[in-house]
Amino acid sequence: MSTMGSSSRAIVCLCAILMLSSASPNSAGITSRYVRKLAASEDLPEDNAHVKAPEEYNAPQQVHIHQGDYEGTAVIVSWVTQDEPGDGKVLYGQAQGNYTTFVIGEAYSYSFYNYTSGFIHHAVISGLQFDTRYFYAIGSGNVSREFWFITPPESKLDTSYTFGVIGDLGQTFDSLSTLEHYMNSSGQSVLFVGDLSYADTYPFHNNIRWDTWSRLIEPSAAFQPWILTAGNHELDFLPEFGETIPFKPYTHRFHTPFRSSNSTSPLWYSIKRGPATIIVLSSYSAFGKYTPQYKWLLAALRRVDRNVTPWLIVLMHTPLYNSNSDHYYEGEPMRVIFEQFLVEYKVDVVFAGHVHAYERTHPVSNVQYDIVNGQCNPLVAESSPVYIVIGDGGNIEGLSAESTRPQADYSAFREASFGHGILDIQNHTHAFFTWHRNQDGEKVAADSAIISNKFWS
Ligand SMILES: *[C@@H]1O[C@H](CO)[C@@H](O)[C@H](O)[C@H]1NC(C)=O
Ligand SMILES: *[C@@H]1O[C@H](CO)[C@@H](O)[C@H](O)[C@H]1NC(C)=O
Ligand SMILES: *[C@@H]1O[C@H](CO)[C@@H](O)[C@H](O)[C@H]1NC(C)=O
Ligand SMILES: *[C@@H]1O[C@H](CO)[C@@H](O)[C@H](O)[C@H]1NC(C)=O
Ligand SMILES: *[C@@H]1O[C@H](CO)[C@@H](O)[C@H](O)[C@H]1NC(C)=O
Ligand SMILES: *[C@@H]1O[C@H](CO)[C@@H](O)[C@H](O)[C@H]1NC(C)=O
Ligand SMILES: [Fe+2]
Repeated sequence: MSTMGSSSRAIVCLCAILMLSSASPNSAGITSRYVRKLAASEDLPEDNAHVKAPEEYNAPQQVHIHQGDYEGTAVIVSWVTQDEPGDGKVLYGQAQGNYTTFVIGEAYSYSFYNYTSGFIHHAVISGLQFDTRYFYAIGSGNVSREFWFITPPESKLDTSYTFGVIGDLGQTFDSLSTLEHYMNSSGQSVLFVGDLSYADTYPFHNNIRWDTWSRLIEPSAAFQPWILTAGNHELDFLPEFGETIPFKPYTHRFHTPFRSSNSTSPLWYSIKRGPATIIVLSSYSAFGKYTPQYKWLLAALRRVDRNVTPWLIVLMHTPLYNSNSDHYYEGEPMRVIFEQFLVEYKVDVVFAGHVHAYERTHPVSNVQYDIVNGQCNPLVAESSPVYIVIGDGGNIEGLSAESTRPQADYSAFREASFGHGILDIQNHTHAFFTWHRNQDGEKVAADSAIISNKFWS
């Protein structure tokens, strides 16, 4: 697969042409042969400029933000000070350098086997205006650092908004390339579909690699929210070394506004952001009938008002539809339980990661299937969700290059290359999705499709 003959080069050229296709039922799926490099690149060394620790005493580092409430008028600011807690203040205002207001957050550290974290701060700024730029500053004296963010537009029918979509990022040279390409795009916030740092690939899950990852993403995540989903690499379950609480580093370092959507766990929650309601699910938490996540999902879906947020987007880590050989069928248990609700509530698009490749399905449903009727061929139907697998951020494990054959009818396009996605919501009926493979730079779309709103069309 790593050497390409001349005939497959011809296929490469065809696939590189920008394809703007409405995801029409029953069109033949495309398996791109455009695989430039299968081997993973190395992780950025700890002293690489993109991940190295600041030299100044107690300088705020690993700065990142998350939406802080359901509506979009609050922001969680998180950062780390290595040497002492400091004053924990976030100064903020609409004019740079002229701060009239501040909030003080909480600070704590956690340990993992023989690692002890710096002081992790989380502060919530609330009562913000929509669609407004705010500057904020953290730290003090010679280590004060300033950043800014723009709040989302108020949710209403014809609001446009652009989301980036990234998954399974890790911290290799490929990860850096994905991040740099994304940062050169018009994405206003990131839908992150799980598997963040891959610190667990190091001996004893060396949590220093959580610090390096958080520094890697800071140039984007300090300025726009990364709306986070937990993946299997967030589990950090290491009982043989006394670490028995799943998601410990992840939940200490990254906060989500789960309480404001009445969730009881930071691992599943929903937010409104501009024209979309985003529902984040946990592939590695119980989801069977009667479980907290199951009951919460039904309540969250019922609450969505498509007149206010016409778009309904679901994020999870393990894909429900995946025709790659890697992790094939792993999403089936959740599909059996949850797909009926995604179809019933007309979810527009479901983003997942886990598989280190890209795949876009036609709108598809398999809810007619039960264990005895044999109707196990997913039906392509315009009113069903589109499923996009985008676990190709560029982590240390490399690409998932083996696809199942023949390509399933539901699969519209699949390719094993690193990259990121852009979901450009135009109005209440139309969104453009483009997938950008790293090697071609930001402006070249390797796959693109119009996603039509399932509720409004
Ligand atoms: C700082 O902000 C306050 C309140 O917004 C304003 O009254 C004042 O003029 C500003 N000062 C400067 C130097 O911009
Ligand atoms: C943690 O333990 C491992 C294995 O014993 C060792 O290599 C490493 O240096 C230790 N780290 C710290 C921070 O003590
Ligand atoms: C920052 O300030 C402290 C004293 O407050 C000083 O000791 C230190 O050298 C300063 N660091 C830099 C990089 O200027
Ligand atoms: C960013 O985009 C500009 C303009 O399209 C392009 O010239 C530049 O090479 C891009 N940079 C990266 C890192 O992709
Ligand atoms: C949370 O529950 C309260 C009380 O039932 C309800 O008023 C509110 O709308 C709910 N909010 C969300 C975002 O689900
Ligand atoms: C929505 O956006 C699409 C694509 O830009 C455009 O063709 C369509 O006319 C727009 N519809 C409305 C109601 O504005
Ligand atoms: Fe994964």
